Amino acid sequence: MAAIARYGMRMVPDAEQIVRQCRQRGQLVQGPHIAAFEEEFARFLGQGHVRAVSLEYGRMALLDILKSMKFPPGSEIIVPALTFWVVPEITRVAGLKPVFADIDPATFTLSPAAMERAITPNTRAVLPTHLYGLSCDLDPILALARRHDLKVIEDCAHSLGATYRGQMVGTFGDASFFSFQAFKPLNTFGGGMAWMRDAELARRVGEYADAEPWPSEERVKSILRAGWWQRTFIRPTVFTYSGFPIWWAASWLNTKPDRFLWEKVQRLDPLPAHYGGRFSNVQAALGRAGLARLPEFIERTRRHARMLDALLGDIPGVSVPRTPPDRTHVYYQYCAYVPDHEELVRSCIRRGVDVAPMHVDVCTRMELFGGHGPEAKGAEKAATAVQVPVYESLADHEIERIGRRVRTQVLRQTRRPRAAGGSEPGH
Ligand SMILES: Cc1ncc(COP(=O)(O)O)c(C=O)c1O
Repeated sequence: MAAIARYGMRMVPDAEQIVRQCRQRGQLVQGPHIAAFEEEFARFLGQGHVRAVSLEYGRMALLDILKSMKFPPGSEIIVPALTFWVVPEITRVAGLKPVFADIDPATFTLSPAAMERAITPNTRAVLPTHLYGLSCDLDPILALARRHDLKVIEDCAHSLGATYRGQMVGTFGDASFFSFQAFKPLNTFGGGMAWMRDAELARRVGEYADAEPWPSEERVKSILRAGWWQRTFIRPTVFTYSGFPIWWAASWLNTKPDRFLWEKVQRLDPLPAHYGGRFSNVQAALGRAGLARLPEFIERTRRHARMLDALLGDIPGVSVPRTPPDRTHVYYQYCAYVPDHEELVRSCIRRGVDVAPMHVDVCTRMELFGGHGPEAKGAEKAATAVQVPVYESLADHEIERIGRRVRTQVLRQTRRPRAAGGSEPGH
């Protein structure tokens, strides 16, 4: 039976034709799709101003926003303790100081009470991150920001299309940013979007985005090729004979190859050379097609999440993702708490289902940020959740198989004492 990878890629069915058309017209790099994509994206969000930013990274939108806000050097920016390490690192690249605040482990998002405790006279902004596709509890965060005169920059890398009290995330604060990396809710093989409430801030962000050089046609082709490779690699038929054997072996050797999957943790100042380059026309063309299909992608992913809820929600000791009634979830990840996460990851991968340990970072314990951040019990707890594959491109029968596998393994865990090293016999 084919193995199921932890990540899926959202691809529009006519992606190859879109790329071919841009190539034939000599418009891989520059062309009319960029302005059209920006217009459609702004319409999708319903308000404000947007700018497509960077060939490779959504994080450049954050950098441009921070630079445009012109905070005094060394100003403090509140960042959730649980996020991708790149986010606080980019605040440092902008000459600012990330200050970590804990999260609510029930929703994986910034705790307003922890945010309040982190505020000092030097705080200038807060970065609520709608992690895994669920909005933060924005009302108390916005109220605190107003009271302390802080800018609010929403990190929407995981959450395009999610809502809070009926309004799209990314439109609540002063600015927000989105990632279009290949596994994200909108895939253009890299790059991102900056959203700004205010026209003057949008103008300044636009100046930074325009100051980047156009990438060469060869470089654009190479990010498309890399995306195609990634897509091939995670197809069940290929993954079964490529990534899966590595994961399978690691489950027996008790090693964690996950760290090789993600980019190397490092200081980003000065920014590596490949961070340069503008968002290209062919990416915008793919983005327009992806945006048109987004409601369908989200609906299928939500249906998968409901199937997993039904298969896992009643098991004692398991907490499936909780969506508060004032929000909608887009399930970039389906993260659940289980009695023994390490054992579950091992036993599922041995049976062909790539259930993954958490992939973002508890930044308070990272060497990169000094390793002795404030206590963040919520983030530490969140690190014990597992990611169950939920993505849109899975077939219903695959979701059924994943859910049943996780269910069986958790029930076995709870029924019998743990085997040393997790080496129970497979079948
Ligand atoms: C929470 C979060 N914010 C920001 C980013 C940055 O996005 P990008 O890799 O497109 O720069 C990521 C990337 O995975 C992320 O997970």
